Amino acid sequence: MSIRYDGQVAIVTGSGQGLGRSHAIELAKRGAKVVVNDLGGATDGTGGSSEAAKAVVAEIEAAGGEAIANGANVAKYDEVEAMVQQAMDKWGRIDILVNNAGILRDKSFAKGSLEDFKMVLDVHLMGSINCTKAVWGIMREQAYGRIVMTTSSSGLYGNFGQTNYGAAKAGIAGLMRCLWLEGLKYGITVNVLAPTATSRMTTDILPEDMQENFPPEAVSPPIVYLCTDNAKDISGRQFLVGGNAVSLLSWQVTPIAKRDLSDGIWGVEEIGELMDASRENWPPINPMRGG
Ligand code: NAI
Repeated sequence: MSIRYDGQVAIVTGSGQGLGRSHAIELAKRGAKVVVNDLGGATDGTGGSSEAAKAVVAEIEAAGGEAIANGANVAKYDEVEAMVQQAMDKWGRIDILVNNAGILRDKSFAKGSLEDFKMVLDVHLMGSINCTKAVWGIMREQAYGRIVMTTSSSGLYGNFGQTNYGAAKAGIAGLMRCLWLEGLKYGITVNVLAPTATSRMTTDILPEDMQENFPPEAVSPPIVYLCTDNAKDISGRQFLVGGNAVSLLSWQVTPIAKRDLSDGIWGVEEIGELMDASRENWPPINPMRGG
């Protein structure tokens, strides 16, 4: 099975470096024309520069691929619309959207400001919504689309000091879980992926001896596969990817108590006893760590 994207157009947000850069290069290598979007700011979302996006475009072109740089802030819908228009004017279609742009403002809930919360939600959640909204009509009309959004284990099962980021990333997963149903009859798939990779975002978090085992390039293959025509039946799914391991994360329902309504609504004491008794059967909050 040789996977190619000749004639297809992809937008990869936040692809001036890190994971996005790797996804953009892999798609371009396989024939996709790529919009390399990046605001070019610091990890906390401050500042901006077009240099990183331009450098990735130069890298793609040097390898014989086709790409354009775009500096839209994904949190601003008018800039996102202009980016989509830029791609349509140049190439006339959009087949693939990888929502990857992101920032960090880690603080405990007590210390974090509402401004940090808003900023993180705006970039991750509204950014993913803005980009998806701007291409959705085009993909519906084409009756074809592949959308992969970037969530995080922090949003799927939690992490200390990342309430703003976790809320935004869980929101992205929630967006996907409803949206994929709306894409079904239009040939549009929507999935999320929670990566683990060494990037400027994680150099302070990933232990040094782990860093070389988690290259961004090891996250791109499943993303790129989800963007192929072959993956038309994979939608609505959550994947965990990093260090060359790929896993599916699914829901698990653990029954606790049920009886016919005619036997009476559970009393608080009754249900409390049943909840306490069943706790040993509850799966861990964080499946990767247990406990
Ligand atoms: P990174 O910091 O290397 O790359 C993020 C890119 O997004 C940067 O180039 C930045 O300029 C761009 N960006 C930020 N705000 C933007 C905006 N408003 N508009 C357009 N571009 C913007 O980080 P990394 O690690 O490559 O992260 C990529 C994605 O993966 C993020 O969504 C991140 O939250 C997510 N992620 C990464 C993990 C990891 O282990 N590296 C773990 C879990 C999630």
